[in-house]
Amino acid sequence: MPIIFGAKHLLVAAATVAVLLFMEVGAVGQEVGAVEHSVSALPSTQQAPGYNPTAPAKVELGRLLFWDPLLSGPQDVACATCHHPQNAYAEDRDLSLGVTGIGLGRFRRQAPGSSIPIVKRNSPTVLNVAFNGIDESGRYDPATAPAFWDNRIRSLESQALEPLKSLEEMRGNTYPEDEAVARVVEKLQANAEYRSLFAGAFGSEQPVNAENLGRAIAAFMRSLLANNSPFDRYMRGDRSAMTEEQVSGMQRFEEIGCIRCHNGPMFSDYKLHVMGVPDNPVLPASDGGGQNPPCPAAPQEPRTAASRAACDSYAFRTPSLRNLEFTFPYGHNGMFRTLRAVVGFYESTIAGSSRNPNVSYEELDPRLRELQNVDEEDVDLIEFLYALSDDSFDRTIPERVPSGLPVGGSIQ
Ligand code: HEC
Ligand code: HEC
Repeated sequence: MPIIFGAKHLLVAAATVAVLLFMEVGAVGQEVGAVEHSVSALPSTQQAPGYNPTAPAKVELGRLLFWDPLLSGPQDVACATCHHPQNAYAEDRDLSLGVTGIGLGRFRRQAPGSSIPIVKRNSPTVLNVAFNGIDESGRYDPATAPAFWDNRIRSLESQALEPLKSLEEMRGNTYPEDEAVARVVEKLQANAEYRSLFAGAFGSEQPVNAENLGRAIAAFMRSLLANNSPFDRYMRGDRSAMTEEQVSGMQRFEEIGCIRCHNGPMFSDYKLHVMGVPDNPVLPASDGGGQNPPCPAAPQEPRTAASRAACDSYAFRTPSLRNLEFTFPYGHNGMFRTLRAVVGFYESTIAGSSRNPNVSYEELDPRLRELQNVDEEDVDLIEFLYALSDDSFDRTIPERVPSGLPVGGSIQ
């Protein structure tokens, strides 16, 4: 087995593999060999947009905001409710339950009589979101970094205000959607401790405003890194960081063709693909089932070209494969409980059928249909995926939040 120890060498190996495939399978192999892809270690530090430089006071304010249920309509849900460090800032349940929910992760339940619908998506981790959009050459622009399963929002600064407006996540029926951010800002302005923390972080005349709210939360999220996995250490030169099985699994990852979508330092091309993941039966078909919501009549800002492509379709963004050890269940709707189940999904799909009756085999992404020799018994492949996890991330939970409400919301 050749020893692979850097991005450049991995590329060379990929080229070799492509040639072999070409000889074995003809035309499909040629397609596989046409574009070379690579994976690499994450950078050790992150970039912020020029208008929101990272600073300790901002990060600490962002942390308090992230944990404070004051940001929700009924004051019972914080960002951390669905992005808790106990679950690596993701959630160990398939679909999220926002306002009126009680408990944490898989123990979370709807309050009796609640009329708030369940969230239609699985909560992704916010670890490493600082690197969203990073490409195979390591370049990214944090001011336009894609967010959400359908890439509908750009930048963490914009993203951070979205949950406040969502009925299911944090708004509830407390106020109309177009007033939500202003109402949260009013609550923050009425709190002396927040007034002083915002002034310390932003220093201007009227520092408690929507823009700075988004900026503080974004700065905090950018501080949540997990970039020292066995794979990162291996790629930086520590040949003992991955086991032999993991190294062989890395080669399998390329040979099979997983790398055609899961590439770059985050193992994501940040593009949308139709995969045919089965719908979650909890979501009624009358409500569009599992697909993305209908396209808006007139696209509004900050919606992007990418989101117009995702609307009314089953196209979802390639998720990062980092920290999968802690972020089960998997898929945009949490339909896969294990990595073996995900690999089994790929195996049955390339056998010639779409796993979702609403998506035809022809509609599936060609890169998915062209995968080679996927086998759910492939222990090395799964071992390699585990090598992408880093448990040394920041797990700090504030002792109290300025509102005096329960830290993290109703999660007990
Ligand atoms: C009720 C649970 C819930 C709450 C509360 C919540 N989130 Fe999320 N979060 C989710 C879900 C579900 C998604 C995926 C939504 C989608 O893609 O449409 C998500 C997506 C995200 C993403 C996108 C990650 C990526 O890689 O694209 C970020 C960042 C994020 N949330 C941060 C926050 C912040 C900041 C707050 C508080 C202001 C918050 N969340 C509140 C459940 C929640
Ligand atoms: C055509 C592009 C493409 C290819 C090829 C591909 N994936 Fe994916 N992968 C995706 C997309 C898109 C999703 C999200 C699907 C969804 O939830 O609807 C995904 C989801 C996943 C997930 C779940 C991650 C999470 O956090 O939820 C894992 C694990 C995964 N893929 C591993 C693999 C492996 C292993 C291979 C090779 C056998 C592979 N992928 C090939 C695009 C791809």
